[in-house]
Amino acid sequence: MKVSKNLFNAALVALLVLSMVGITACGPKATPTPKVYAYKDMVVGFLQTGSEGGWRAANTASFKETAQQLGITLKFYDSQNDLAKQVAGFRQFIQDKDVNVIVLAALETTGWDDVLKEAQAAGKIVVLEDRRIDAADNLYATYIGSDFAEEGRKSADEICKLLANSAKKNVWELVGNVGSSAAKDRGQGFREKMGACGISVTKSQTANWSITEGKQVTEAWLKETKDVQAIFGQNDEMALGAIEALKEAGLKPGVDVFVLSVDATAGAFKSMLAGDLNVTVECNPLLAPQVYEAALKALNGVSLPKWVPSQEGVFRSTDPNLQSITDGRKY
Ligand code: AHR
Repeated sequence: MKVSKNLFNAALVALLVLSMVGITACGPKATPTPKVYAYKDMVVGFLQTGSEGGWRAANTASFKETAQQLGITLKFYDSQNDLAKQVAGFRQFIQDKDVNVIVLAALETTGWDDVLKEAQAAGKIVVLEDRRIDAADNLYATYIGSDFAEEGRKSADEICKLLANSAKKNVWELVGNVGSSAAKDRGQGFREKMGACGISVTKSQTANWSITEGKQVTEAWLKETKDVQAIFGQNDEMALGAIEALKEAGLKPGVDVFVLSVDATAGAFKSMLAGDLNVTVECNPLLAPQVYEAALKALNGVSLPKWVPSQEGVFRSTDPNLQSITDGRKY
C-alpha cells in the first residue's frame, strides 16, 4: 500500500513537472501560433485635426480612399481643431474593443504621454501621421510625415534667392496654428537659414492655416506699413489670403512683394501660373498608403524606424514646364 502511495505521489509530481515544462499527457503543449494580420483585420481609429484647407482635405481623402481600396475599417474622428476634443477622441478609440490601430495627426506637440501609455496598456498600435509630437518614441510605433524644419530651411533659401537684388530684406511670416509641430518647426528652420542673406522677420503672427485670417492679418500689417519685400506663408491658404490683401492695397504680389508658401496644393499652382505666387515648398498630404503599411507591420510584430520622412520638392513660378507639372498634380 505504502509503495503504491509513493508511486502515485511520484507520478503526480512527474505530471506536475511535465505540465510546467509544457508537456501534457498527450505530448508537448502547442505554442499558439501568433495571428497574422491582413488589411481586412485592421480597424483604424483616425484622429484628424479638423478642416484647415486644401492640404488637410487631400490628407483626409487619402485615408478614406486608401482604406476603401485595402478593405480596412476606418473610424474617422474630426477633432474640430480642438485639442481637448482630440484627446477625448483618442480615449474613445482606446475603449473601443474593435479598434486595433490608432492614427493621430496631432494638433499640438504636447499633452500626449498619458493617453499613449493608456493605449499601450490596452495593446493598441499607435501611428503618428503628418505631425510629430514631444513624447518618448517607445510610446508609438512610428511617425510618418514631413521634415517641417527642412521646409522652413528651404523657404529661407528660396526667399534669399528672390531677394538677391533687393537692398532691403524685410519678411512677414504668417504662422500656422500655435503649438503644432508644422508651425514650430517651419519657423525654426526658416530662422536657421535666414541669416545667410540678411533676412529680418519684421512681422510674425498666426493665421491658423486659413485664407481669411491670412488676408486679415496682412491687411492689418499693410495699414501700419508697406515696408515689406517678401511674405513667408507657412501654408498655401495663408499666402493666398496675403496675395488678396496686397492686391487690395494696390501692390503687385510676386513683383512688388515676393510671396512664398508651403504645401504645393492646386491653389498654389494656379496662383503661380497667374504670376502672384513666386514659390511653393511641397508638403505631401498623401500619406495613407505608408501609414497603413506601417500599421500592418506593427500589428504583425515588426519593429519600425521611428520616423519615415516624406520626399518633397520645391516649385517656382519660373519653372518652364509649370503648366504640365500643374496638370500632373494629384492634389
Ligand atoms: O501639418 C501640415 C500642415 O497642416 C499643412 O502645411 C497645412 O496646410 C495643414 O493645415
